[in-house]
Amino acid sequence: MGSYNYLGFAAADEYCTPRVVSSLQKCGWTTCSSRLDGGTSEVHEELESLVARYLKKPAALSWGMGFATNTTVLPSLLGKGCLVVSNQLNHRSIVSGVKLSGAKVKVFDHNDMKNLENILRDAIVQGQPRTGMPWKKIMIVIEGIYSMEGDMPLLQKIVELKKKYNCYLYLDEAHSIGALGKTGRGLCEHLGVNFEDVDILMGTFTKSFGSCGGYIASSMEVIEYLRYSSPGFLYATSLSMPAAQQIISSMKVIAGEDGTTRGQTKITQLKDNANFLRNKLKEAGCAVLGSHDSPVIPIMIFHPAKIPAISRECYKYGIAIVTVGFPATPLLLARARLCISAAHSREDLEYACNVLIDATQKCSMRYKS
Ligand SMILES: Cc1ncc(COP(=O)(O)O)c(C=O)c1O
Repeated sequence: MGSYNYLGFAAADEYCTPRVVSSLQKCGWTTCSSRLDGGTSEVHEELESLVARYLKKPAALSWGMGFATNTTVLPSLLGKGCLVVSNQLNHRSIVSGVKLSGAKVKVFDHNDMKNLENILRDAIVQGQPRTGMPWKKIMIVIEGIYSMEGDMPLLQKIVELKKKYNCYLYLDEAHSIGALGKTGRGLCEHLGVNFEDVDILMGTFTKSFGSCGGYIASSMEVIEYLRYSSPGFLYATSLSMPAAQQIISSMKVIAGEDGTTRGQTKITQLKDNANFLRNKLKEAGCAVLGSHDSPVIPIMIFHPAKIPAISRECYKYGIAIVTVGFPATPLLLARARLCISAAHSREDLEYACNVLIDATQKCSMRYKS
């Protein structure tokens, strides 16, 4: 229960695996080349047009690593004279990308819309430090599901603010793509927000698609600009072709383009599984964080000494969970984080639930009972 295999595509799949194997036989493991040299194949082109179509954007581009997508795209889009308004709990790859960009950063409190609006208003009224010149660009950067909280941003409100203050919006959907929305298209679909209202959709293929790499889907202009300016695209070996084929195949299953309803079933199963376990743990009195429908379920541990205790107690019965403490969380906000998969059967979840309920009892973690 510790990995991000949301839709179960990390295991062999009747549609994906034969296609990946045949891609491996035809193309080999790697291009041994960066995208602008010899590293662009038909598979990469097919992947990028599929991602663009799936996310209702004019164009998309792929990177060999999700982390490097953020760290090498944000510095291409931002620089001196730009302001980034970043959620307090954004992933390390965003923090690193923003730092590398040289832009000024203001952090807003997690999902606090009042605080976000105050920062935007002050930034526009005051302009750049010392000179008071207007900011060249203001970009709000958020995630689709926060991986340590399991919750979602208030996207409708953020879009409203972005329009009111004329800013750009960058949404990292590492955990929400595939997992949220009726057809897995992520947070916009889940909340009924127009895809056009998010300027830059970023995501990774490492969670719901059972592969590796990252993407940006945006306007034609942004994508063409990134093609010639993102160092992670220009100077890094391109995505392995079998890995790209795995993404294409799993995305087609999710979108129902394989001619079956397996993708739909997986998405429904993931939600049912997540809500089942979340409700059971809440009923047992655990302090559970996160939104309904979110496959990320953090259980608060609080006390640092209980971190190894709960982990070992679960592991003893074959349940692997991720525990997180300082410095990844504040000292007294340690937590265990469960990630639910569509591949978990109801029996798996009932067994895990019993182990977790016993373990949280032994570790005195039923703070809400
Ligand atoms: C929000 C977010 N962005 C980016 C990444 C990096 O993606 P990858 O692990 O695919 O390199 C992660 C990884 O978990 C993440 O949670």
